Amino acid sequence: MNTRNKYWFGKSDVGVYSEMRVRRFGREACAVRRRLPMALSAETEVTGGVSGGPTHVVPTGAALGATMRGVDLKDLEEVAFARIMQAWRDHLVLLFRDQTLSDHELIAFSRRLGDLDWAPIQETGRRFVEGLPEIYIVSNVKVNGEPIGSLGDGEAVWHTDMSYLDLPPKASMLYSLEIPSSGGNTSFCSMYAVYDALPGKLKDRIAGLKIKHDGTYNSGGYVRQGVTPTDDPRTSPGAVHPLVCTHPDTGKRMLYLGRRRNAYIVGLDLADSETLLNELWGYAVQPQFAWEHVWRVGDLVLWDNRCTMHRRDAFDPKQRRIMHRTQVKGDALPV
Ligand code: OGA
Ligand code: MN
Repeated sequence: MNTRNKYWFGKSDVGVYSEMRVRRFGREACAVRRRLPMALSAETEVTGGVSGGPTHVVPTGAALGATMRGVDLKDLEEVAFARIMQAWRDHLVLLFRDQTLSDHELIAFSRRLGDLDWAPIQETGRRFVEGLPEIYIVSNVKVNGEPIGSLGDGEAVWHTDMSYLDLPPKASMLYSLEIPSSGGNTSFCSMYAVYDALPGKLKDRIAGLKIKHDGTYNSGGYVRQGVTPTDDPRTSPGAVHPLVCTHPDTGKRMLYLGRRRNAYIVGLDLADSETLLNELWGYAVQPQFAWEHVWRVGDLVLWDNRCTMHRRDAFDPKQRRIMHRTQVKGDALPV
């Protein structure tokens, strides 16, 4: 059943670049600063004895996101992995181009970040890949009339993955196997930046509040398996988390919204909850907090699912899009 989302928060048009920043890795690293010709971004080259050549971190220039160059995720020494983890903490979303990963290799890299969650059940009620419950397929492709994955070809609205769980995944990674010639871009936003931008009075007002993250609908507007749909956010299934959380690794504060539909600020009248949520979402969807990714086949995008949200554009239903995702278990409850 495809219940269309009634909330639409607009395409993220990222044209605002933050100040150029250069990151250095490790004490022993030899950093070479270099300005790229076409973009307001900077590159750090690290040549600290990593096999397979130097690792480069190229920030997007937007509020979050960086491309990691010179990395083969199948063949990664400990020191290179540690640098990737540092870049991930700094930039929240990392793009690795030109990867060639089987599902087993995608799972093997994902496991370096921690134990994996099983993927949500597919919209048809099936699990995705036989024998590999960790793999979630995002696709509009149908075989014998049945979708091989989730989210169809429509828009996927802003959300955080699986925050309807008490312990949501800390990371997700999405690997592209087939993409349409246009459309289907994925945008990410920094919930640190969103929180920082709130007026002091609003920060005071939301300190200590809790929010219910709905488990009824996925970001494509489809009803999740085994759930009786309701549009009353006070009674719909979900998990309650603090509205402002502190990141366990960086110590930074972030707004934790999850998704708009069926969200509820615990203890408020429904109308007051709606008003406050709309006010907060008015900040969350501003383009200066986001970065938009245009996919190529072989891209792997790794995001911190605690301090970011993401959304996807619709695309031509006649074209094929196939992505495989893993999700890494959280290691601390959101607090
Ligand atoms: C996801 C997701 C968006 C996309 O895999 O969690 O939201 O671009 N995907 O397919
Ligand atoms: Mn998602």
